[in-house]
Amino acid sequence: MKEQLEIIRKGALEAISGAQGAADLESLRVKYLGKKGELTAVLKQMGGLSAELRPVIGQLANEVRASVEKAIEAQSAIVSERALAARLEAETVDVTVPGKKIPLGHKHPMYAVLDEIKEIFIGMGFEIFDGPEVEQAEYNFTKLNAPEDHPSRDWTDTFYLTKDSTVLLRSQTSPVQIRAMETHGVPIRMISPGRVYRKDEVDATHSPMFHQIEGLVVDKGITMADLKGTLNTIIREIYGSNTQTRFRPHHFPFTEPSCEMDIQCHKCGGAGCPTCKGEGWIELLGAGMVHPKVLRNCGVDPEEYSGFAFGFGLERLALGQYKISDMRLIFENDVRFLEQF
Ligand code: DAH
Repeated sequence: MKEQLEIIRKGALEAISGAQGAADLESLRVKYLGKKGELTAVLKQMGGLSAELRPVIGQLANEVRASVEKAIEAQSAIVSERALAARLEAETVDVTVPGKKIPLGHKHPMYAVLDEIKEIFIGMGFEIFDGPEVEQAEYNFTKLNAPEDHPSRDWTDTFYLTKDSTVLLRSQTSPVQIRAMETHGVPIRMISPGRVYRKDEVDATHSPMFHQIEGLVVDKGITMADLKGTLNTIIREIYGSNTQTRFRPHHFPFTEPSCEMDIQCHKCGGAGCPTCKGEGWIELLGAGMVHPKVLRNCGVDPEEYSGFAFGFGLERLALGQYKISDMRLIFENDVRFLEQF
């Protein structure tokens, strides 16, 4: 029996030291130490031993059991350490690998210019008004004193939405003047930026859809001096304090007198170049003193109140600010273009 026990010990220790996983070790434990295991089988035969041999074999059997148990425990520690090492190896994070870039959008250059302009006007006490792009001819033309035969009312110039020419895509932001006076009343200081639509062919300086900013100031005692002072202040905020401006007489149905404002060409300083088409000046906006008829159309007494209005194109300002040569780039929304700003 002694040899039998030694064989069991040798076999068990060898098998255990070669075990690769926790499951292997468990089945070895059952094989050697379990109720039906090899060691138990030997112990069951102890009844036939002599009184002297029994304690000797008993002690040996206990030693074998203890050494098998110890070996299982030691191997199990080795196996789980190996498993952990393998897991750590498999799950390593290389913190030096460069991250994935998430592309972030940014403001369109024209809207960046618009925000800057809004800030300037808000700083001067103006309010921002919004108006509908689908407008009534009544507001786009009639209340603005545009006569029935005015060329801008023609079907070839304007996108009418109804056959009777009463509803259209607004051709200017000026109707918001009327809406603002009607809803807000006077005195008022407002601007209204937005889209306008005209039947223009697309080229470097034209688009059937573009943006205007309308402005209106009505109060008691407003004069042409206020118009010039306000517009000069704003243009110098945008283009710099040395900007030279000039006012030329013009005609708009809704202002009397009317004018256009030019700035001296920032490219050539007034000498004449391709940017200003040799003129030395660049036309910037239309303006004038609000026509008494327009005030009356909005229920404002022109004997008591007077005001000035102005309107300018946003694209032209953005093109000038960023030295962009073609208006189509503003609307094509090619990211390769937009990413430059
Ligand atoms: N609405 C005019 C246009 O589209 C621009 C304009 C001129 C607006 C004079 C005004 C103004 O308010 O007073 O050409």
